[in-house]
Amino acid sequence: MLKINATQKIRVFSGIQPSGKVHIGNYLGAMRRWVAEQQQKENYFCIVDMHAITVPQDPSQLKRLTRDLAAVYLAVGLDPRVCTIFVQSQVPAHAECCWILNCVTPVGWLERMTQYKVKSREGESVNAGLLVYPVLQAADILLYDADEVPVGEDQSQHVELARDIAQRFNHLYGETFKVPKLVLPAVGARIKALNDPTRKMSKSEAHLRGHAIGLVDDPDEIRYVVRRSVTDTGREITFSKQEDKAGVNNLLEIYELLTGKSQEQIEAHFAGKGYAALKEEVAEVIIAALEPVRQRYQELMDDPHELDRLLALGAERARGVADPKMAEIKRKVGFVPLSKH
Ligand code: AMP
Ligand code: TRP
Repeated sequence: MLKINATQKIRVFSGIQPSGKVHIGNYLGAMRRWVAEQQQKENYFCIVDMHAITVPQDPSQLKRLTRDLAAVYLAVGLDPRVCTIFVQSQVPAHAECCWILNCVTPVGWLERMTQYKVKSREGESVNAGLLVYPVLQAADILLYDADEVPVGEDQSQHVELARDIAQRFNHLYGETFKVPKLVLPAVGARIKALNDPTRKMSKSEAHLRGHAIGLVDDPDEIRYVVRRSVTDTGREITFSKQEDKAGVNNLLEIYELLTGKSQEQIEAHFAGKGYAALKEEVAEVIIAALEPVRQRYQELMDDPHELDRLLALGAERARGVADPKMAEIKRKVGFVPLSKH
């Protein structure tokens, strides 16, 4: 039986790949909620470098992006006193658990994953890591008995799969894993690319100028990118699900999320104004919201030793949870434990 303790805090697990520039889509879709709810919850936020290498990464760049993402986690306001912030590859249980879960996961479940289908269509050769990517993600979540997984919409299928894998393992080996809940934001679950509002803003394209706004981009760059963002030939500044209004709607959603104003207030505010004014105001709102992030980020990047120290501490705390869970999983599967002679 799983232990249920009403006084225990809800446990949260989520992660981001250190595979490119972190953008406002990552922030509005996921990290903002992590920060807002961190005091009420027990939090595990991972930098998933083992997921990142499912597509080619330059080793020195990966190292840089990993520390960079750690600094961004802290700069957006995650408090290391209440959040366990750690690098996936520094906790070996993730790889170990992934292997065992691979052995209870039908290949058909993995071949159906949208992200796999898209990425394997793009790449010339598909490695096995790309196929089992969601099993590693399930291992991340299940090792911590997470109650909630707050992510953007593009991750719902992976979290559903983690639930299926948990249930299948529990069925085969007896109650072992908590079945986690997917948590999506009400607004901002899918921020669109500024140069093409029919597609999501994506880390793998964030280095292309005009696609995304990085969390630590400087104000002039933000103004430039928002001013050049794709809208339409109309004049109407209203929230809309219409395809040709996706650009304006995206800017309005960003504005809504960052100002906390209601859609009615926002539409009234922009009534009679043109797209140039909309873009200017959206840019200023983004700049103001990101200014403290950029400052803290710079301070953190100036002290890489402190950053590595915090990550070491995080990995140790994560192991404190993952290692005993791993021992339980191995026992359930029937592996002979190492004897303490
Ligand atoms: P990734 O960039 O794929 O590592 O995603 C990290 C987190 O950000 C996940 O929770 C994603 O669902 C979320 N995310 C990524 N892109 C977007 C986007 N364009 N809009 C909203 N959330 C996003
Ligand atoms: N696949 C997720 C993404 O690209 C990252 C991720 C890996 C993750 N492990 C996770 C998210 C566990 C939530 C929980 O966004």
